[in-house]
Amino acid sequence: MTETAYSHVPVLPHQTVDLLLGGSAPVRRIIDGTVGCGGHSALLLERLPEAELLGIDRDDEALARAGERLAFAGSRVHLRKGCFSELIEFAAGLGWDSVDAILLDIGVSSPQIDDPKRGFSFRHDGPLDMRMDRSSERSASRIVNRYDAASLQRIFREYGEMENRDARKLAEAVVAAREKQAFSTTGELAELCEQVLRTRNRSLPAPTLCFQALRIEVNGELEELKQALRSAVPLLNPGGRLCVISFHSLEDRIVKNFFREMAETCKCPPGIPVCVCGWKPVLKIVTKHPVTADAEELGNNPRAACAKLRAAEKLTTEGREV
Ligand SMILES: C[S@@+](CC[C@H](N)C(=O)[O-])C[C@H]1O[C@@H](n2cnc3c(N)ncnc32)[C@H](O)[C@@H]1O
Repeated sequence: MTETAYSHVPVLPHQTVDLLLGGSAPVRRIIDGTVGCGGHSALLLERLPEAELLGIDRDDEALARAGERLAFAGSRVHLRKGCFSELIEFAAGLGWDSVDAILLDIGVSSPQIDDPKRGFSFRHDGPLDMRMDRSSERSASRIVNRYDAASLQRIFREYGEMENRDARKLAEAVVAAREKQAFSTTGELAELCEQVLRTRNRSLPAPTLCFQALRIEVNGELEELKQALRSAVPLLNPGGRLCVISFHSLEDRIVKNFFREMAETCKCPPGIPVCVCGWKPVLKIVTKHPVTADAEELGNNPRAACAKLRAAEKLTTEGREV
């Protein structure tokens, strides 16, 4: 695969393709809910010359790049702009009421992080933005300049996984600073994080958790993921697989717990001698532990360091509320 300066190296590429296509059913229709620059999708379409792929992304620039990267597959590719939480609606738009494989490689792509204008990274100074979809109203600047201290504290604690003490200190400092002058750049916020959180013994740069928290809030990332998982299960054909690659523990926990719940054999309260719930498992967990990058991949692509890949296979056709 040729890489340009504006491309994204797909993480865990061969492990993802092997797991996604390794189910017990033939794969004819695939959804890539995070098509990005089209890296994983290209590998899938190359491996399966008859398959069709629906690629979704909420970022116009990503879709443009995916269009170029996947042009070789012609009419087998369908690209749509929007959120992966709406994958049932996008599939229905193609007349698909079921699919054989669904991939979510969540988070941001290298072009998004590396472009200072997008405001995702505290390593480059740029506007405080962080929107994957640049037409949406909620930006990081809006949150930092308008949310009250209690809301900021909650976001820093829940989405940034900060200790409550740090979350409160940072929220109060943000509110005090913006009374003098509103925040407009990533650099201004990063500097405040350095000042406020300086004394704590941390292994991460001070702004890391603050920027993680804001990005999750701006893009509604955890709700998107929960809804996409719930939608993916009824859409998958029996024997079809769902693969999710996540990049931090909040996301990975959601995926792990969802797979576990769907793979449960009984939902009766503990102590009941005979099962009365009638629950049947809907998914089989394929990856007991998440798949992570090996040393060779890490040498070529350090961004794969946090990636965790989990896969599950659909077991039953029974319609079930999930
Ligand atoms: C890590 S990149 C995917 C890279 C892709 N697998 C590749 O190989 O090029 C994640 C992409 O998902 C998109 N994205 C993240 N959350 C999304 C959501 N809820 N709905 C649609 N797209 C989303 C981002 O805009 C980004 O382009």
